[in-house]
Amino acid sequence: MANSEYEYVKREFEFDRRLPASNWIVVRIDGCHFHRFSKIHAFEKPNDENALRLMNACATSMLEKFPDIVFAYGVSDEYSFVFREETEFYQRRESKILSICVSYFTSVYGMKWKDFFPNKDLREPPYFDGRVVCYPNMKTIHDYLAWRQVDCHINNHYNTCFWMLVKSGKTEKEAQQTLKGTFSEDKNELLSQQFQVNYEDEPAMFRKGSSVYRDKVETKVKTDDYGNPIKRIRLAITVSNLDIIGPEFWGKHQYILQEGKYRYEYVKKFDDIRRLPCCNWIVVRISACQFDKFSLIHSFDKPNDETALSLMNASASLMMEQFPDIIFGYGFSNEYSFVFQENTELYQRNERLILSSCSSWFTSFYMMKWKEYFPSKELVQPPKFEAEVLCYPKPKIVCDYLSWRQAECHNRNQYNTCFWMLVKSGEDENKANEILKGTLSKDKNELLFQRFQMNYNNEPAMFRKGSCTYRQKFVKEKVHVAYKRTASERCVDTFSN
Ligand code: GTP
Ligand code: MG
Repeated sequence: MANSEYEYVKREFEFDRRLPASNWIVVRIDGCHFHRFSKIHAFEKPNDENALRLMNACATSMLEKFPDIVFAYGVSDEYSFVFREETEFYQRRESKILSICVSYFTSVYGMKWKDFFPNKDLREPPYFDGRVVCYPNMKTIHDYLAWRQVDCHINNHYNTCFWMLVKSGKTEKEAQQTLKGTFSEDKNELLSQQFQVNYEDEPAMFRKGSSVYRDKVETKVKTDDYGNPIKRIRLAITVSNLDIIGPEFWGKHQYILQEGKYRYEYVKKFDDIRRLPCCNWIVVRISACQFDKFSLIHSFDKPNDETALSLMNASASLMMEQFPDIIFGYGFSNEYSFVFQENTELYQRNERLILSSCSSWFTSFYMMKWKEYFPSKELVQPPKFEAEVLCYPKPKIVCDYLSWRQAECHNRNQYNTCFWMLVKSGEDENKANEILKGTLSKDKNELLFQRFQMNYNNEPAMFRKGSCTYRQKFVKEKVHVAYKRTASERCVDTFSN
């Protein structure tokens, strides 16, 4: 079917983020405003066994529904789901994976509510938020799960003490005060001394959280001819409340977090091309690295070396010849920004190609033109330029960007002008910095005028304003006017300061 003229809004704007291959994908779901939700449904404090069992039932349904989830861990109103390392669930598209997990979990929560709270109506719709995190190796995924279980312990230990104190008659504030700054041993002592409770005897579901996974269970499938049972090992979804921090659980269940068996082509999946969104102005800002050192070695004038700036401008001009889609360039000091026309299709808007080729071309032009601008100076250190790509959806923002750079040019140049005038007049560099500390623009103008009889506004515009490079339209009259009265436009690169 032919695409409509509107179809570009999908093709050009919808980008699916695909999660990197060879990573365990974790989706962590968390109840929204469950403080309130637990209150209006009168959950027991600090732990409501039915509420936690309902969460576990939802997690179990998730493992039943999505075979690529190999492990889930839950505590309080949160649940983490770990997908197998090489899952191709929705081609690893982040938004699909996240939204489906959160949505399915929520709907199961609503459907199973009555099984766990037969005498309570669901008075408000429960809802959950979620995030996706990728863990690249066995250590980080184990550590992620250990982190959640340590969190469970810390919170539950505190909450158990807190609610025991409150139930024994203390106000919430007093309970908080009692527990402030206490360590684990102090809390254990408090529980045993004041309430004769051994924390280790509290239900494991509260202390350890819940893990859901496929466990190996032996089941009788049939009997042989002699009546002996024939047993098979099969995987059954299990909920347990074991320690998953130490090595024991993972030693026994090595098959759960197995690394994938990839064929070599999978490496292509890492080639993640970022395309800059269409209908946006692309700005590439190039700036010379370690320019202080570079300008020192090549004895550039301070604070501004006119020749060095002209060399930057010449390189910018060549950039505009090389890339017809650049519509404007602005530079000062060691940087140059290039604005590409809104709909440029340069390298199909592949960010890395635009960035790398711009910085490489600019460097080449700078080297090529060096001898022309510095005929008697040897280029003794190779210059290097870094580049950044920015994307602006509105022309007004591009203008604001350029204004920002020009304001930066003004601030730096005014400061440097004062600084070097002071140094050249005999102040040492620390003193010059001290004199200028905290001064405003008008103070600097005054300083220049009073001490050096210098009017800052008479300084060369190239230093004060930076340089703009653009193509200027001008009208050229044709010679054969009599019969050819048309005017043609020619474009030239122009520097205006
Ligand atoms: P957001 O997640 O930021 O929307 O806020 P939240 O109110 O859900 O708080 P958070 O997720 O940080 O913490 C979960 C909250 O759920 C706890 O502070 C408790 O108030 C409540 N909660 C979770 N499980 C239970 C439970 O078993 N019993 C009771 N009484 N409350 C619980
Ligand atoms: Mg929550």
